[in-house]
Amino acid sequence: MTRSLSDLLASRRMCRDFSPEPISSDILDPVLAAAFAGPRAGNTHGIHLVVLEDAECARYWDVTLPEERRSGFRWPGLLRAPVLAVVVVDVEAYVRRYGESDKVGSGLGSSAEAWAVPYWFVDAGSAAMAVLLAAEAAGLGALWFALFDHEAAVAEEFGVPAGFRAVGTLALGRRAPGPSEASRSATRGRPDPLEFLHRGGWA
Ligand SMILES: Cc1cc2nc3c(=O)[nH]c(=O)nc-3n(C[C@H](O)[C@H](O)[C@H](O)COP(=O)(O)O)c2cc1C
Repeated sequence: MTRSLSDLLASRRMCRDFSPEPISSDILDPVLAAAFAGPRAGNTHGIHLVVLEDAECARYWDVTLPEERRSGFRWPGLLRAPVLAVVVVDVEAYVRRYGESDKVGSGLGSSAEAWAVPYWFVDAGSAAMAVLLAAEAAGLGALWFALFDHEAAVAEEFGVPAGFRAVGTLALGRRAPGPSEASRSATRGRPDPLEFLHRGGWA
């Protein structure tokens, strides 16, 4: 059954409790490919996914959640996700792109520091959202979560080149059966659009 976009948007919620069963590539690959169908500033080709499975996921958790901190971890089912995809952005690709003739007038081709809004992070969010929606459409659970202060350690463990930024990680897999604990953030509910839409101006 094909689901409408509004249905996918309404039902998509982060999953923090996964079944460990692997995801076949015929299901997984199109979900991952969605990352490259999102909008990109200047159509820069600067978004990468470092896709981890099996023992590679274990290495990710060893780096970001050492054994001694695991017993108190609130989301043990997250550690069972069969796939982790780290979203990595190539900052210099954006700077180079905006130094090309059709963009050089923006002044953004000189350095990353010239960017008031770093579009590589914007595009990483768009890529993540595309994957989250593709996962929902494919019947998978997904979580987009932060690296916090583990960015450098993850980059080193998985050989991310210098100058690239690891923005966050997508966990993907089948949702564990049965109810799972809601996160404190999720229980805040979704905002009422009427409160946050400022038609015609802020007032
Ligand atoms: C940039 C970003 C970082 C996030 N980091 C985390 C995280 O580190 N851990 C986590 O459990 N959820 C994380 N979330 C998920 C949010 O808590 C979640 O999207 C929010 O509560 C709304 O719930 P929903 O996505 O299920 O609608 C993050 C979401 C975004 C967009």
